[in-house]
Amino acid sequence: MEDISVNTKVLRVDPQNIDIDIIREAAEAIRRGGTVAFPTETVYGLGADTYNPEAVKKVFIAKRRPMDNPLIVHIHSMEQLYEIAVKVPPEAERLARRFWPGPMTLLLWKAERVPPEVTAGRPTVAVRMPAHPVALALIRESGVPIAAPSANLAGRPSPTTGEHVVRDLFGRVDVILDAGETVYGVESTIVDLTRDPPVLLRPGGLPVEEVERELGKRVEVPPFARGLGQADVALAPGMKYRHYAPLKRLVIVEGDYGDLRAYASKVIDVVRREAAKGVRPVVLCSSETAPYYEAQGIRYVELGPRGNIFIVARNLFKTFRLIDELPDVDAAFMEGFEERGLGLAVMNRARKASGFSIIRV
Ligand code: TXA
Ligand code: MG
Repeated sequence: MEDISVNTKVLRVDPQNIDIDIIREAAEAIRRGGTVAFPTETVYGLGADTYNPEAVKKVFIAKRRPMDNPLIVHIHSMEQLYEIAVKVPPEAERLARRFWPGPMTLLLWKAERVPPEVTAGRPTVAVRMPAHPVALALIRESGVPIAAPSANLAGRPSPTTGEHVVRDLFGRVDVILDAGETVYGVESTIVDLTRDPPVLLRPGGLPVEEVERELGKRVEVPPFARGLGQADVALAPGMKYRHYAPLKRLVIVEGDYGDLRAYASKVIDVVRREAAKGVRPVVLCSSETAPYYEAQGIRYVELGPRGNIFIVARNLFKTFRLIDELPDVDAAFMEGFEERGLGLAVMNRARKASGFSIIRV
């Protein structure tokens, strides 16, 4: 793929007290056809003017993203929704009223004016209104919807801090807006509303159970949304590639989380077997099980409590990045989590990041 060298400007913004001049400078870059990395409440995005195909192409080049993996269009108002989508069903309006701005992306039929570069030639478009003051201000000041995937190099864990973006994209994009750490730490939930019943294309920051409750009906959760196996259809293009991955080996050790003591001792068996082969392991575990590894002198990193899976989700990608930096570690063995609420997003990302290297104990 073609490579680039861009003069990158890193601008710091305080999300609690936004300097509008900084936002305007970034918006100017968008309007001129440039690329801007910006914070959202989920992960950082790398944006361009949705209506400018040349600008959109720059996003793919900067990320080294395959051109057949479509982008999400970020909007700041309902008017912009009707600009980019057609045949918007009442269910979309209902979900939008309840969950936007927020970590929910809707798949709808695309309007003519959305260029094929954004949707990778598909007749559908993914849309979301992010709940981050910097993102909303940027979209508003740009005057156009902003097409943006996550602001990482393709295949790497999505960035949850400005520092992560700088590491992946400095010298490859025009502007990086750094507003510190994001809130959710996993990407948005993607719901396909062009089908009935609706289909979960990717679990994320908004639990699918909440979508079902609001719609008063079932949302189909295919195996690929759980991170099991590859999607064979073109429905969820993100599924075709290894994603979110640390450079080091990652293995997910799944089991029965009803008896955590018994579960942890099985994880310890796995880790000991690996160590006997000369592998230097680290365990990524819950706060509840950390004491078992501690007691056995096994190296571990805590992801957060099972009792508050929100924290586990928030720490996930930065822990994947951390693994690569840990000295004297060759491989990480991550505990599984229950696929409820945000746990579904955690397991989807973990299984994919491992390249489907899953052990059941
Ligand atoms: O929270 C998020 O969703 C973040 C922030 C920046 O908004 N965005 C994000 O985008 O994570 P990313 O890198 O996951 O890329 C967008 C994904 C694609 O990989 C694909 O799975 C899905 O959205 N997508 C976009 N358009 C689609 C379409 N027309 N059909 C099916 N899937 C689509
Ligand atoms: Mg991504």
